[in-house]
Amino acid sequence: MNILLLGSGGREHAFAYLLSRSPRCKQLYIAPGNAGTALEGENVAISATDFSKIKEFCLSKQISLVVVGPEEPLVKGIVDFFAQDAALSKIPIVGPSQKGATLEGSKEFAKEFMQRHHIPTARYASFTKDTIEEGLRFLESMQAPYVLKADGLAAGKGVVILDNLQEAQSELKRMLLEEKFGIASQKVVIEEFLKGIELSCFVLTDGQSYKILPTAKDYKRIGEGDTGLNTGGMGAVSPVPFANEALMQKIEERIIKPTIEGLKKEQITYRGFVFIGLIKVGDDPFVIEYNVRMGDPETEVVLPRLQTDLVTLLEATAKEQLKDCPLSIDPRSATTVMLVSGGYPEDYQKGKVISGLEVQSESLIFHAGTCLKDGKVLTAGGRVLAVTSLADNFKEALKKSYSRIEKISFENMYYRKDIGMDL
Ligand code: AMP
Ligand code: GLY
Repeated sequence: MNILLLGSGGREHAFAYLLSRSPRCKQLYIAPGNAGTALEGENVAISATDFSKIKEFCLSKQISLVVVGPEEPLVKGIVDFFAQDAALSKIPIVGPSQKGATLEGSKEFAKEFMQRHHIPTARYASFTKDTIEEGLRFLESMQAPYVLKADGLAAGKGVVILDNLQEAQSELKRMLLEEKFGIASQKVVIEEFLKGIELSCFVLTDGQSYKILPTAKDYKRIGEGDTGLNTGGMGAVSPVPFANEALMQKIEERIIKPTIEGLKKEQITYRGFVFIGLIKVGDDPFVIEYNVRMGDPETEVVLPRLQTDLVTLLEATAKEQLKDCPLSIDPRSATTVMLVSGGYPEDYQKGKVISGLEVQSESLIFHAGTCLKDGKVLTAGGRVLAVTSLADNFKEALKKSYSRIEKISFENMYYRKDIGMDL
């Protein structure tokens, strides 16, 4: 079949890598893709949010499966757009409806959903410009650290955690009165700080049944030892060693089942990935956030461990036939290390020539922010490449990734040398 994949990051390159290797994939198109996805299929210059061009393309190329990588088209309602169009409604598409995508698109909606379905999460309250005085007083009633979250999508930057009450109050004013994160911070969720260790759980659901994919842990801070600014993710490992059977059982019973049941009860159409950001407090899991897509760079360690044919799995998801689909996971450990442009997550330069990509090794190199120009691969983003390796244990996998990285270079390349070291 012909498949269209939407997106252009490391996550999409990992998807493209697996989709293109499926015996069921005849032609893979990626819109808009990057220099890495161009190795797996044909890039097409269409934005992932340009629904009318996507429609035209799907019909002209006889697309039989659409896979949506990033959250933006989902939150903008691409799945509803397909459902409501007579010609497109026959094409299976992987992703939640716009209502389902609100689990990521609005933190307040997600918190209310969790409350309705008794899913463990931090206590919270939400405020707008009109209730800012209550918000300031609410902060006074809380203990440090203070967690402030812009309600809407803020490109992963909308969460601010502060130790000092005055700073937290000023931040609340900046978010609500000055719209620090644009319309995303017209509403702010303030929540209790949970102290524990984080992990991410990935679920694929067709709205009726679900499959639990491998767990992963990502490393969000720019600096070693988890210091410095937050990034989109500097590396990841899978599986998470402390996610033992007892913890996974609690996660499934207390979080995954009520989430899927909740969606069903509320008649929210959801055929796609649920990425559950969790924090383990003592021995108990709490939800920090939902995302309605796979994580990046978590995908770069989760998908390479999948032994089941990805096209079959995704088609079954979109056609509500997931129940009959077996799932098989590689027991080995996977790690990925992100190579980023110097300066990221603040200002950085693009257009640097990347060398060493041609070297053969067992590691997989997923392009995150690259483009092709005059036959050369250039940097085109903050996060540039994700180097993934598989081995019997983390240490070996990391050794492979770090040794592969030694042969790659571009001006001002930076990466963390401590991915997975805390485990
Ligand atoms: P989010 O964008 O919701 O994933 O939040 C970004 C990061 O903020 C998370 O990965 C956590 O490290 C941290 N965080 C969010 N909410 C809380 C909370 N209630 N308690 C402690 N840390 C939190
Ligand atoms: N790595 C975190 C995310 O994809 O949101």
